[in-house]
Amino acid sequence: MLYTLLKILLVIHLAGVILGFIGGRVHGALISWLETAPADTAEILWRYEKSASYMAFLGTSLLIITGILMLVYKWGGLAGQDWLFWVKMVLVAAVGGAEIVRHITAVKWRQGDQSMLAWTKNSGKFSGIAAVLTVIVGVFNFN
Ligand code: HEM
Repeated sequence: MLYTLLKILLVIHLAGVILGFIGGRVHGALISWLETAPADTAEILWRYEKSASYMAFLGTSLLIITGILMLVYKWGGLAGQDWLFWVKMVLVAAVGGAEIVRHITAVKWRQGDQSMLAWTKNSGKFSGIAAVLTVIVGVFNFN
């Protein structure tokens, strides 16, 4: 039973990677497009901008929640983790922090604050790059 639950957690963890990358990349493309899009195109793009932003945020949240559960119930917690695990945690903190900034500034930008656009764009790029590194380190760490 525990074995199956742990497998399901890993599936959700990896689904978090997919949601995070797709949501983040699509959100980045949509906000750049929205800057110059004519009104009729913008009307369509706005329909997807919010859901892409939430998709990336949900993906990151799922990663952190399932990651902690697997760490505790499969690997016995923090004790005995090697330095690569801590490299991964620093990267996770970077992804998580950048995602919070990206998501909040995206909300403010959506509400009309134009000064937030550069913030949401740059934190999104930072989050994406840190997430690629997290995947690489994550694979070397636990596999
Ligand atoms: C941006 C956030 C994260 C990303 C991109 C990420 C990525 C990955 C990937 C790609 C794997 C698969 C490795 C493999 O089995 O080959 C993995 C596994 C794992 N991750 Fe994460 N992870 C993230 C956050 C976390 C967090 C916050 C924790 C714990 C506090 C965590 C704990 C684990 C554990 C325990 C495994 C091994 C699962 C197993 O037993 O097979 N991850 N992660």
